[in-house]
Amino acid sequence: MVAQGAIAGSLSFVLGLPGWWLAINLAFFPMIGLGQQLDLRPEWYLLALCLLLLTQFGALRSRVPLYLSSHRAKTELAHLLPHTQGLRLLDIGSGTGGLLAQLAQARPDLRLAGVESAPLLWLVSRLRLGKRADIRFGSLWRHDLSRYDVVYAFLSPEPMARLWDKVRREMKPGSLFISNSFAVPGVAPDAVIDLNDLNRGRLLLWRLS
Ligand SMILES: C[S@@+](CC[C@H](N)C(=O)[O-])C[C@H]1O[C@@H](n2cnc3c(N)ncnc32)[C@H](O)[C@@H]1O
Repeated sequence: MVAQGAIAGSLSFVLGLPGWWLAINLAFFPMIGLGQQLDLRPEWYLLALCLLLLTQFGALRSRVPLYLSSHRAKTELAHLLPHTQGLRLLDIGSGTGGLLAQLAQARPDLRLAGVESAPLLWLVSRLRLGKRADIRFGSLWRHDLSRYDVVYAFLSPEPMARLWDKVRREMKPGSLFISNSFAVPGVAPDAVIDLNDLNRGRLLLWRLS
């Protein structure tokens, strides 16, 4: 198992994957071995499966799993947003609400909202943020973007072309669309900010005209 982990880790390195993938691939097989040694009761595996389904089931269809914006991405975002009192920001696919929680602390002048389709993640973020953000349960595709000055997305390559159509249809001229790391096919952003984080992330910004 250790040898398999080492081979997987080396392949990640050769393929130039980000550091966090290297860590996962290194640890995956040794962790399976460790799990077998622990001789856990089957109920724990069932519980893990249920948690996985409650948080990631939608990803089978949407091709957008849960992973979180880095601390760097949140700090950079808080820094770059215009200081207009009451600026309305929506996080589409708000996950566990970490991005909104940090923005609520760093930028109390913002009016924050999120929409999340995974029931457990929605509940966690709702409890976590309370009145500091308006977190809606549901699909981003049924959420009207016209009420927001800034829309932030950290999704995956899969929905970006369709999302761009929605953004252009609904967002007002002068508003800002920001994608963490994922480009819109064939549409150059107006600005790019390198995050130098573990994901080698970038913030891509489009100003709507
Ligand atoms: C990569 S995570 C980003 C979480 C958070 N925005 C952040 O930056 O830390 C993407 C989130 O989008 C959610 N999601 C995927 N498809 C969605 C949809 N159609 N409507 C609403 N949320 C969706 C997933 O459940 C997941 O929580």
